[in-house]
Amino acid sequence: MEMNILDKEEILKNIKEEALNNHVPIIEDESLDLILTILKIKKPNKILEIGTAVGYSAINFSKYLYGENAKIKTVEIKESMYNKAMENISSMNLEDKIEVVYADATEYMKQIPDSEQYDIVFIDAAKGQYLVFLEEAIRLTKVGGIIIADNMLYRGRTLSDYNEHKHRTATNRLREYLKIMKEDKRLDSTLIKIGDGLAISIVNKKS
Ligand SMILES: C[S@@+](CC[C@H](N)C(=O)[O-])C[C@H]1O[C@@H](n2cnc3c(N)ncnc32)[C@H](O)[C@@H]1O
Repeated sequence: MEMNILDKEEILKNIKEEALNNHVPIIEDESLDLILTILKIKKPNKILEIGTAVGYSAINFSKYLYGENAKIKTVEIKESMYNKAMENISSMNLEDKIEVVYADATEYMKQIPDSEQYDIVFIDAAKGQYLVFLEEAIRLTKVGGIIIADNMLYRGRTLSDYNEHKHRTATNRLREYLKIMKEDKRLDSTLIKIGDGLAISIVNKKS
């Protein structure tokens, strides 16, 4: 049976509330707003997301898919998250639009063939792996497509002189990401300081 818009909004509100109550790190409202605006302009047919958690961002993105066979593929490493995402996506009747892959994206992305190209790649997983995700994302994004990475400010650590042992590796990788996205001739990039920081890179050419 077709679900009406109000039912869907109510379910999505509950998914968000449950995630926040369980301290699942879902995307912040203002970052989500900006990404949805980009989707409305870009009108993507294929989106790849790295880091599903409970499916909250993917469900939101699915409203702005365009064209035939439009789809989001989203990758999650943690079984409990994968199961919850599958449950949430099914409760919204979105199984035909969102495919959840239970895998480590550092390995999984490398297995995606060059022929599978995306309009948008959204990176929102382990910060220590962002450089691996970026290189694979460049390979898998269409020319003219957009790579978006969340949590680039890492609660103020990335752009400060933070150097404590606990988050040093992740912080250094994010600093490196910012440097590469500016210097890499294949990309045209900017850092937007909303939420926890969004890096936005347009892929201009592949080599
Ligand atoms: C910030 S949360 C994702 C939030 C989600 N995008 C949203 O806004 O609703 C990050 C997720 O990435 C997953 N993750 C971390 N490393 C990963 C990896 N190497 N491969 C796939 N998923 C990973 C974590 O288990 C976690 O669920």
